[in-house]
Amino acid sequence: MTSDFRNEKSDKPLIVGIGGTTRTPSSTDRALRLALRAAEDAGAAVHCFSGPFLVRLPHFAPEHQTRSEEQQELVQMVRRADGLIVASPGYHGGVSGLVKNALDLLEDLRGDEQSYLDGRAVGIVVTAAGWQAAVTTLHALRAIVHALRGWPTPLGAALNTVEPIFDAHGNCTDVKAANALNTVGQQVVDFAGRHAAMEKRSSRSS
Ligand SMILES: Cc1cc2nc3c(=O)[nH]c(=O)nc-3n(C[C@H](O)[C@H](O)[C@H](O)COP(=O)(O)O)c2cc1C
Repeated sequence: MTSDFRNEKSDKPLIVGIGGTTRTPSSTDRALRLALRAAEDAGAAVHCFSGPFLVRLPHFAPEHQTRSEEQQELVQMVRRADGLIVASPGYHGGVSGLVKNALDLLEDLRGDEQSYLDGRAVGIVVTAAGWQAAVTTLHALRAIVHALRGWPTPLGAALNTVEPIFDAHGNCTDVKAANALNTVGQQVVDFAGRHAAMEKRSSRSS
């Protein structure tokens, strides 16, 4: 899943995952990868920017023009992406700084023809040690995706990690959580296909 396919030509929609935490194992990372796996099963190529990558991103500073290799890589992949899946833990009722820092970097897409996340579905996955932060963080991420002109998928996956969700091998043992993560992955790919078909139709008729 984290393999580098940047030089491969593919007709598959590209879905980019951003999220996780610095912890090992990270339940947010596990949840993100399951949603990405569902996207892959639905016919997408996927690429995952997880905690160990995100922690190497410098703190985003809009007044600085220079970008690290990691910052450039993330921006280029999102620029190419047909859809995204963003996964954050609920930290103090909101999005973690690690994930928000990566999302702030998408400011570099502002001047693109396809500005920010325009025309892209974004699946949202949240983990928290309780339902309250899981839901407030889901709402916060939806608002961020709207601000970035993206299309949050109808279903977001909010997981309460106090309840047993993963076994020691990282398999999802909670049927409802697994269904939610599958649906999020499928909805992102479904939207990407519909959007590509619509673009094709409108370019034919113009
Ligand atoms: C700094 C910090 C703040 C947290 N704040 C909350 C919170 O406000 N509400 C909550 O339910 N869980 C909170 N948690 C728990 C995490 O959201 C939860 O354990 C999450 O699943 C951790 O994800 P991970 O396994 O990917 O590291 C917090 C954890 C940390 C480390």
